[in-house]
Amino acid sequence: MKRALAALLCCVGLAQADGVRPSREFLSPELRAQQDDPSRHPGWLWVDDGEALWRAGERSCQSCHGDIAGMAGVAARYPAVAADGALLNLELRIERCREEHQGAPRFGYEGQALLSLTAAIAQRSRGLPMSVPVDGAAAPFLERGREFYATRQGQLNLSCGQCHDENAGRRLRGDVISNGLGTGYPAYRLEWNTLGSLHRRLRACSLGVRAEQLPLGGADYLALELFLAHRARGLPVETPGLRR
Ligand code: HEC
Ligand code: HEC
Repeated sequence: MKRALAALLCCVGLAQADGVRPSREFLSPELRAQQDDPSRHPGWLWVDDGEALWRAGERSCQSCHGDIAGMAGVAARYPAVAADGALLNLELRIERCREEHQGAPRFGYEGQALLSLTAAIAQRSRGLPMSVPVDGAAAPFLERGREFYATRQGQLNLSCGQCHDENAGRRLRGDVISNGLGTGYPAYRLEWNTLGSLHRRLRACSLGVRAEQLPLGGADYLALELFLAHRARGLPVETPGLRR
């Protein structure tokens, strides 16, 4: 299988990374410039929509939380364990508020409303260093995520790390393989022609190795998200990211 991977990978590209580097460093100069420029970055349309949703309605998010500026730093410490012991990423934390505090039905994973609110909240942490707590109640979830990351999967029998550690900086089907961090999500991906969640991206990687695509918001991808957030500790939030 090592040979199969070698055949997939082209021999040119950046030098192999030593240590985990921010996702933006793996972008082409053009994409990086576009990610940095809101006027040329369609992801900001979702941020604007999310900010409008934040203020909308009688029992608005704002009515409890105040101005969305107060959400600065929140995304840098998610996923997090809630009082009832469940691991929640930002999307699921918002869904909880929707049900428990707004008394309204969930928005639905990957729907425009949830993507917009998630992007608007996470954008408030743009540039801030990731720092998810991984001790106490979070520890078992971290271990589950770490194990998932290290497990060979799919018909190609590859672990996440075989691409995102051992081959970071090399090219695969037109992409430069990054360290596989979640710091840019939700991100606008040109191939999707829309904004998408981290779990949608994870499903694409599962498909890439011909493994089962797991449910959005499900326990495996959540644990993986926590592990990826921990891998990214100290690195900046990039949401909304811009991807090929
Ligand atoms: C009726 C009040 C209320 C409303 C309305 C509400 N929330 Fe919350 N929210 C809370 C409380 C209280 C918490 C703390 C966790 C808990 O006890 O549920 C919280 C926690 C959060 C957190 C996590 C903050 C952190 O520091 O970890 C986010 C993000 C959030 N809410 C987003 C939203 C969004 C988005 C909306 C609108 C869709 C919303 N909330 C609507 C009361 C509310
Ligand atoms: C066959 C190689 C391969 C494997 C195995 C693989 N990925 Fe990926 N992954 C890619 C490529 C190529 C991309 C797109 C370029 C990039 O951003 O790295 C990508 C993108 C990502 C991204 C988005 C990074 C960003 O900033 O946009 C994340 C997160 C990710 N992968 C996580 C994972 C995880 C977790 C696993 C294991 C379940 C995994 N990948 C398995 C090749 C792989």
